[in-house]
Amino acid sequence: MVSPGERADFVVVANRLPVDRVVHDDGTDEWRTSPGGLVTAMEPVMRDRRGAWVGWPGEAGVSLEPFTTACGLHLFPVTLDARDIRDYYEGFSNGTLWPIYHDVISEPAFHRSWWAAYRTVNERFAQATADVAADGATVWVQDYQLQLVPALLRELRPDLRIGWFNHIPFPPVELFAQLPWRTAVLRGLLGADFVGFQRSADARNFLRACRMVLGASSRGSVVTWQGSQDGLLGHAPRTVRAAPIPISIDFSALESLAMSAEVTERAEAIRASLGNPRTVLLGVDRLDYTKGIRHRLRAVSELLADGAIDPREVAVVQVASPSRERVEAYRRLRSQVEAMVGRINGEYSDIGQTPVYYLHQAYPREEMAAMYQAADVMLVTPLRDGMNLVCKEYVTCRHDLGGALVLSEFAGASQELTSAYGCNPHDIVGLKRSILTALHDEPSARRRRMRAMRRRVRTHDVYAWADSYLQALAVAPEQPEP
Ligand code: G6P
Repeated sequence: MVSPGERADFVVVANRLPVDRVVHDDGTDEWRTSPGGLVTAMEPVMRDRRGAWVGWPGEAGVSLEPFTTACGLHLFPVTLDARDIRDYYEGFSNGTLWPIYHDVISEPAFHRSWWAAYRTVNERFAQATADVAADGATVWVQDYQLQLVPALLRELRPDLRIGWFNHIPFPPVELFAQLPWRTAVLRGLLGADFVGFQRSADARNFLRACRMVLGASSRGSVVTWQGSQDGLLGHAPRTVRAAPIPISIDFSALESLAMSAEVTERAEAIRASLGNPRTVLLGVDRLDYTKGIRHRLRAVSELLADGAIDPREVAVVQVASPSRERVEAYRRLRSQVEAMVGRINGEYSDIGQTPVYYLHQAYPREEMAAMYQAADVMLVTPLRDGMNLVCKEYVTCRHDLGGALVLSEFAGASQELTSAYGCNPHDIVGLKRSILTALHDEPSARRRRMRAMRRRVRTHDVYAWADSYLQALAVAPEQPEP
């Protein structure tokens, strides 16, 4: 890996650095690597290739010198002040792009000041990357917050090989076209040599947007844009490949954790704390309106009302980790979810017996692994989700082949986990039916489904994802002459 001061052959650029600040009792603090799929997958590549990571430390106004974490990751922090966070992160990224890219479930807001901040912050990321990348380095830009970085970086450093990966869906052009800055966003992305998506439908949506918005031509997975004379962002002709490379998790590390005696004991203790109910249903999400938490609670509440599940025999655990709490749509969602939980519990609780456990917090991996093992049915019901790694985590933890997964057809993961009990979360009757089928299916059928899903995640883990992506980036198409 590269040290601060040196230049890197491989650079990951993401909105967030993979670290959290930990404050000790004596008031001193340190930055610790936050466990996550992306950083796990990147660590071996970073070690082999003199790697570096450019990103925001996650706090307003924090300005840090480049540093190396205890586990040897070389980090190059980008500072965002309170205004950048309001306009670039909460505003354009999560108030404009996030809803458009998720089927306009919530209404997107369009503000020119947010766009200006998005562009300025993307310029800052591009400059920081240009400063750290060695000659001919490979740069891997992540996600929707940084869509202008590929073209901005190419202007600064034409020698680099640049890839971009979208962790969230890429919308149909009919929705994408609402964006007043749609041309600039596509021109930003076409600065890359290769763009990766979660599903083939996302790659197709992108190619179609390039044709319809930019007038580019495409053949198979390759788009060619003739460039423009206007001198604006990304004006030179480009040939770029777009393909699906679905992200995954570290199967073997999580499976080993789930097999540990501590986690197994904790899973039993969790069931005991819930009063050893006959059935445990589990939902685990960031508290986000894309996750279908309200639809899920509606189905649970109707199943209780129908008498299809007995409040004395069932425990529904909903982990909803806090997210983007200053964005209005997220605040509204929190009130709605909390009102629904309150209503269900008011109606169906008794002394010492509560049907819904609503946990508004994030938990460490060990505790999550234990919850997954304690759950008879996992409910993953997003209205739209790029991938959804929770369902992959769940099947990974079920080495006993127990449990059952109810999975929305609107999660990217449904393309891979085809043996799940599928559902359309908008169809409450169908969702209730899927939950009941998952609950009452023959144990042998449940095991067969679980085995098939585990095989898929085992063979397509996060390391396979990173390898496939970097291979695709390495053979990206020749560029046309300007
Ligand atoms: C999604 C996005 C990520 C983002 C994460 C958490 O998974 O694809 O880029 O980091 O949500 O959201 P946050 O806004 O807290 O970074």
